[in-house]
Amino acid sequence: MSITAAILGFGGYVPERVFTNRDWEELVDTTDEWIVTRTGIRERRFAAPDEATADLAENAARVALEEAGLDGSDIDEIIVATDTPEVYTPDTAAFLQDRLGAGSIPAYDLGGSGCAGWLQAIDVARARIALHPERILVVGVELISRIISWKERETCVLFGDGAGAVVMGPEGGTAKVLDVVAGTDGSKAGILTLSTGGTRHPFNQEAVTSGAYNHLTMNGREVFREAVRRMSEAAREIIERVGASLADVALVVPHQANQRIIDAVGKELGVEPDRMYSNIASYGNIGSATVPFALWEARRNGRIRPGDLVVAAAFGAGFHWAAAAVQF
Ligand code: ACO
Repeated sequence: MSITAAILGFGGYVPERVFTNRDWEELVDTTDEWIVTRTGIRERRFAAPDEATADLAENAARVALEEAGLDGSDIDEIIVATDTPEVYTPDTAAFLQDRLGAGSIPAYDLGGSGCAGWLQAIDVARARIALHPERILVVGVELISRIISWKERETCVLFGDGAGAVVMGPEGGTAKVLDVVAGTDGSKAGILTLSTGGTRHPFNQEAVTSGAYNHLTMNGREVFREAVRRMSEAAREIIERVGASLADVALVVPHQANQRIIDAVGKELGVEPDRMYSNIASYGNIGSATVPFALWEARRNGRIRPGDLVVAAAFGAGFHWAAAAVQF
């Protein structure tokens, strides 16, 4: 059975501070030319020192609520997808519920799914809506600037901070989630990881001294290969599940990790570049915020219009991947 759910409002937010490739040139042994040709990234946004996850989440959530014509008190549930929470415990959703004045509704994080987290979260939301006809705020938010080593050029130049949000409900709004597919390959859990801070490698003096406490590590080439394969497969699967063909898809919104990954997914699918959405030059990889932020932005800049069938696909740590078909 396919369960559809409506999207009543979209929201996005990025911090004001622009951090360019030239800024990275000052800190690590890299060049603007290397970053642009290998990744497509020109700049990214970084949160101010006094900004944290709930701040970015709140800003994106308020934009989505406004479009939906709702207040925080109209929301029945909150799900936040993030790998960079406000604090270790409790979850960011608890802070967000309080800030939005949402009442004592269920609010919880879907953490650790990396860049695929928000698509997994809308999958959970549509199932919850099928059980109870309720309005759910689903946020993707990341401050990846806080978990990277600012000394390791292989990873630090790739990421940015930001947030995206939607309000979902049983009907109405401007878009409908037709279906979602998702998958996980836990055998690759060690390939893209921030392993310090959990119970296996707790915070201790050694973690602080060595810098391991904020050290996201990855095997870039393996991530690249798997991202192309899994996002292409998931996009094909979702298109087939909703009874459409690639020709019916107005826009593919892929996770924004590397322009070469986006190009390779387009090539694999046989979708020409102008139907592959890209904003990586301006924001870099903003993890679970990438897809909801891109959907919000693409509607604002006219790349998504009423009547469009849009396919979103994401891939991240886990490895987790997911794709959704959204009818505008
Ligand atoms: N500046 C200059 N040189 C660099 C930099 C940098 N910032 N980073 C790496 N290099 C060097 C390497 O040291 C290497 O030097 P060597 O040849 O002397 O050994 C050379 O550039 C080539 O390195 P490669 O790893 O082969 O470069 P590649 O073309 O594979 O690009 C990259 C690396 C950009 C990380 C790519 O593999 C990639 O994007 N992978 C996906 C990773 C990713 O997106 N992870 C994010 C999280 S998961 C997700 O969101 C999908």
